[in-house]
Amino acid sequence: MEIRQLKLKDVEKVRELEISCIKEYFAATLENKWEDLPEEWKDNLGASSKNHFKAYLDSGLSFVAEEDGEIYGFIFAQMLHHIADVNNLVWIENMGVHPYVRRNEIGYRLLRETLRKGREMGGQVAHSMIQEDNVSSIMLHKKIGFFMDDRKVALMDLQDPKLKL
Ligand SMILES: CC(C)(COP(=O)(O)OP(=O)(O)OC[C@H]1O[C@@H](n2cnc3c(N)ncnc32)[C@H](O)[C@@H]1OP(=O)(O)O)[C@@H](O)C(=O)NCCC(=O)NCCS
Repeated sequence: MEIRQLKLKDVEKVRELEISCIKEYFAATLENKWEDLPEEWKDNLGASSKNHFKAYLDSGLSFVAEEDGEIYGFIFAQMLHHIADVNNLVWIENMGVHPYVRRNEIGYRLLRETLRKGREMGGQVAHSMIQEDNVSSIMLHKKIGFFMDDRKVALMDLQDPKLKL
């Protein structure tokens, strides 16, 4: 299995894999049936969506795992500047490995590649988005050396028409 940088030609295959990982998450956590969710909302999900893919492609920090022309894993990351008291922060937005080939160190190798490249590009720290009930992802991040405390991120939908500010 080759770990290599994300390329433009990967867009369709990597989109398919990211969506299948997102669906898996929905099936495990939400009552919502995927088919019932609005199409427009689904189109905007994930780092491989139309509006976000290019940023993750251009970042130089996104990688895929490929064998025989098929994509079996991905990691989408970018460098953020002047955030959380650091100049260069490696932001890991999403990663996933095809269910058939999990537990073969593919996730570990993808994450390590992003971290190595991020450090080479001047990254000072790395932050990764992990749902608190995602045991496999938590264990993977711990194995590679991430520190996890009880921090929580507070979210607000600034485009919510009902929001009163
Ligand atoms: C999380 C995920 C990317 C891990 O990919 P993977 O290729 O299977 O992981 P690896 O084989 O590299 O595992 C590395 C380490 O992670 C931990 N780990 C991975 N899967 C695990 C599981 N199901 N249970 C417990 N620990 C697990 C282990 O410490 C493992 O090391 P070990 O095999 O020596 O014990 C994969 O399970 C996945 O795609 N999940 C669905 C999508 C997702 O949740 N993405 C993360 C969003 S942040």
